[in-house]
Amino acid sequence: MNWDNRFASRTAQMKRSTVREILKLTAQPGVISFAGGLPAPEFFPVDRIREVSDIVLAERGREVLQYSTSEGMPELRGWIAERMSKGALKISPDNILILSGSQQALDLVGRVLLDERDVVIVENPTYVGMLSAWKPYDIQFTAVPTDQDGMIVDELEPLLQPGDAKMLYTIPSFQNPQGTTMSRPRRAKLAALLQQYNLPVYEDDPYGELYFDGEKMPSVLEMEAAQRGTTSIEDCTTIYAGTFSKTLTPGLRVGWVAAAYPVIDKLVQAKQATDLHTSTLSQFITYEMIRDGKFLDDHVANLRKVYRERRDLMLATMDRCFPAEVTWTRPSGGLFTMVTMPEHLNAVDVLQEALKQNVAFVPCDGFFIGETGHNTFRLNYSNARPEMIVTGIERLGAVLKSLLTQA
Ligand SMILES: Cc1ncc(COP(=O)(O)O)c(C=O)c1O
Repeated sequence: MNWDNRFASRTAQMKRSTVREILKLTAQPGVISFAGGLPAPEFFPVDRIREVSDIVLAERGREVLQYSTSEGMPELRGWIAERMSKGALKISPDNILILSGSQQALDLVGRVLLDERDVVIVENPTYVGMLSAWKPYDIQFTAVPTDQDGMIVDELEPLLQPGDAKMLYTIPSFQNPQGTTMSRPRRAKLAALLQQYNLPVYEDDPYGELYFDGEKMPSVLEMEAAQRGTTSIEDCTTIYAGTFSKTLTPGLRVGWVAAAYPVIDKLVQAKQATDLHTSTLSQFITYEMIRDGKFLDDHVANLRKVYRERRDLMLATMDRCFPAEVTWTRPSGGLFTMVTMPEHLNAVDVLQEALKQNVAFVPCDGFFIGETGHNTFRLNYSNARPEMIVTGIERLGAVLKSLLTQA
């Protein structure tokens, strides 16, 4: 049977994730990979997960292996609601929906809010996993340029004037792929625009807890509530997506969305059609691990320290080994830096050369709106041990130098 003509037309916009395909290549032994957005597995809390798994199975075994509610485990929703209630903003468990990773929030929000040919405003570059989730709706993505302080919010306002944008998507903290962060004044300006235009905004925040310097930046949701002078998320247009993937472990697949109740209600309906509910066992394990707050806080503090050291080492080695024609971002948290080479180099070709030296990264063209970005690539520092960072970056520097002298 030839299936080619049998697929729904929306599948024309679907393709396998290039990042995930590159990850297959880099899984070979000997390859130093800066490709995946992976947390450091040597810091996964394996013993603690084993311990709490025993506890939940011994104490509530019949319950944790059963189907459960689509909204998610009430205690976990309550814990997240309390953590997210900051300053004047008070969030109720009814405003929280537990998801199978925050990637599911992208899928479900697409289903319930986007129509074919809607306009969605995004940072350029933006998260490729969002593009995969929303492209099947034939979305018209409108790009806002970025710099070292994230989205250039002054360039956003003219795009809002025609009033035809359906939504704005942003990763304000330690963006994927750039690692950059939207500054506080820009968040304030964005909050003012949200109030003025009542535009729904999707705040994707998997990395916000992984700040290396100073304090956690207030979320766009918090800034919006303050701008509107409200204590209630019901008055806000921000849909906030969070996850335990980068703070605990991605393998549990536990994330969440926080939003006004009418949005949560629709998302619950979409989730029921997708997977009924998030794994009961994963939710119980997650809750048991974090309920006292202390374990998570200590664990994340340690991750910040380790990732900060790895970032410092990677940037210092790049400073030492990369040719002068190449530039890169200086992240203050998260997992990535993005490299920009001279226009005439293509990151896919550079990757072929780098793989010959057993080094891998992710070319960023797929993260860009429009035909740009071919000369950029993303480097992950969280998942490489220090000695690998030095060797891998030295090799990559040599590859870049050799390609630039040839050109
Ligand atoms: C910006 C962004 N959003 C969402 C996700 C999905 O994360 P998860 O589904 O593991 O919560 C990722 C994963 O890397 C990401 O970088």
